[in-house]
Amino acid sequence: MTEEKKEIEEEKKETVMQCIVQTDYGEYQSVLKKTTLPVPNPTGTQVLIKVHNTALNPVDYKITMGKLQTVLGMKHPFVIGRDFSGVISELGPKITERNNKEAFKIGDRVAGMVMPTDLNHGSFAEYLITDIKNIVHIPQNMSFREACALPLVAQTSYQSLFEKSNLKKGDKVLILGGSTATGLIGIQLCKIAEASEIAVTSTQSDLCTYDHYSLCLFNYNLFDVDLGATRVINYKDQKWWEELKGQKFDIIYDTVGGQQSWEKAGDILKEKGIFTTIVGDAAANKATYSSVIGTGLSLVNRKFWSVCGYMDYNLLIKLHSNKGLREIFTWFAEGKISVLVDESSPYEFSEEGAKAMYAKQISQSCHGKLTTTLK
Ligand SMILES: NC(=O)c1ccc[n+]([C@@H]2O[C@H](COP(=O)([O-])OP(=O)(O)OC[C@H]3O[C@@H](n4cnc5c(N)ncnc54)[C@H](OP(=O)(O)O)[C@@H]3O)[C@@H](O)[C@H]2O)c1
Repeated sequence: MTEEKKEIEEEKKETVMQCIVQTDYGEYQSVLKKTTLPVPNPTGTQVLIKVHNTALNPVDYKITMGKLQTVLGMKHPFVIGRDFSGVISELGPKITERNNKEAFKIGDRVAGMVMPTDLNHGSFAEYLITDIKNIVHIPQNMSFREACALPLVAQTSYQSLFEKSNLKKGDKVLILGGSTATGLIGIQLCKIAEASEIAVTSTQSDLCTYDHYSLCLFNYNLFDVDLGATRVINYKDQKWWEELKGQKFDIIYDTVGGQQSWEKAGDILKEKGIFTTIVGDAAANKATYSSVIGTGLSLVNRKFWSVCGYMDYNLLIKLHSNKGLREIFTWFAEGKISVLVDESSPYEFSEEGAKAMYAKQISQSCHGKLTTTLK
């Protein structure tokens, strides 16, 4: 038996795992705890993953603060986190050749995201279970640490730009929030699609093609990455709708949110341009029944006007599991996409580490992903 297989066999015998759970809704300082839980058993078409790395997303702190309580019902305690990379440790009993077209097997290096609707199996744990459809193979030239930083943000930007906004060669795109984790991937996707212009709003003036963006990848090493933005508008001193007045854009991709962005979009979007937001009007508010209904009604109203020939409005509400991730990993393997990690990463896999990640994520000062290493 090879050393790797022996290690997996031994790991399979583990019955308990370390994990970070949320014990209730509230302030992360008091409700996040490190604890021990039984290793879950994969059922049906699920796989058991030995987690190597995870990354945090804003949705995690929104869940902890109870902002999504109305739309996502969950029972406490549960393991936090969505993004993961790791190794397949066990295959569920209903996995067959037919539903396992990629021939996943024990020992394979994989990554993916646990859907926010599947809150029982978060990624801040030594093991997680997820459906086989949620995982993809990690390319040989990609590390576990790189792989965990992509799934949620990359799928969000892929689905927003290619599916909701119909991004194509020659398009002029404005990304609101060029240095958000989703925006950083968005810029690179626009470059791959050969957009003719990629304007972004950010305080980071070096997001442009000509000045390389110095990014921290891992262990505080600085790399120069040619991202591809063509213009940066500093949202702290300039208003994008004034700076870009007179120009006509095909797409606005909004990763920041707020009603004003939609209201000002008409100043610079083409008549049938597309506005896609991943946040919506009320970025910081708690989702209540009335706000959910209000969002639904305003969506219908904005869609009605787009059918009448005006610019189109999209709100990315539900991510599709795994859509776009395979292609993004292929682009990474071909050197077309870089993984961007905030310089404070990686964090320690501990209660203090998780709390420090939450503090950083909530401060809205990350430039790239916040990651943690379990193995
Ligand atoms: N609908 C979905 O499925 C979905 C999926 C993923 C994320 N989201 C949401 O999308 C939002 C962004 O997530 P993320 O992980 O990409 O964010 P993030 O990486 O945490 O964004 C942090 C960055 O935001 C920038 N920023 C803050 N205020 C800004 C403003 N007014 N204009 C432009 N940039 C601003 C800051 O960069 P500067 O240095 O430029 O200030 C900061 O570094 C979150 O609200 C998240 O919940 C939704």
